[in-house]
Amino acid sequence: MRIDIITLLPELIKSPFEASILKRGIEKGIVEVHMHDLRHYGLNKYNQVDDYQYGGGAGMVMMIEPIDRLIQDLKAERDYDEVIYMTPDGETLNQGIANQLSLKENLIILCGHYKGVDQRVRDLFVTKEISIGDYVLSGGELGAAVLCDAVIRLIPGVISDETSALTDSHQDGLLAPPVYTRPAEYKGLKVPEILLSGHAGRIEEWREEQAFERTKKRRPDMLKD
Ligand code: ADE
Repeated sequence: MRIDIITLLPELIKSPFEASILKRGIEKGIVEVHMHDLRHYGLNKYNQVDDYQYGGGAGMVMMIEPIDRLIQDLKAERDYDEVIYMTPDGETLNQGIANQLSLKENLIILCGHYKGVDQRVRDLFVTKEISIGDYVLSGGELGAAVLCDAVIRLIPGVISDETSALTDSHQDGLLAPPVYTRPAEYKGLKVPEILLSGHAGRIEEWREEQAFERTKKRRPDMLKD
């Protein structure tokens, strides 16, 4: 997979790709992530990328021309499956969206700033609009990092123990069950007996039960369907 991220703040989004699972995915050659500084496509001698909004109102709007030129340069090199715009008024990210995107080959992620991008960018180029939750961030970069993490860890080979990604919370529509490691007892707190029993079948049953109970208690909305 190849991901091209269009941003005004490349330094804000570099570090998530330099550690842990994302780094490993890149080092293994399973995923390539390229940052593109939109400022390099800015207009005039100020490299202008934004302007006042028509009709008045507080906040600048990102202009169409720099974004258009950058996207055309990228599209001249390869086809893209999706051009994703990170925005608080997009579809809320969930595991299903992450699963779908993990199957794609080439993605562009556009990070908004200020009041966002000129509507014509969305009408012309954007194929998917994603929010990471009902709150407003200062820009799309942190959202893009969240999206990339959720997607990249699902690509086969990125996580060595592949069953681990499959047993995550949300992957099967339930929250994950509680987990324990050594010691078997700490300050009087014991690990549930069943987990020490060695009965793989019963342990699996217990985990399913716990996952269901936890979901019912914490996220009953997930059980509606
Ligand atoms: N940009 C600003 N807020 C955002 C959000 N909640 N999700 C994605 N991108 C954003």
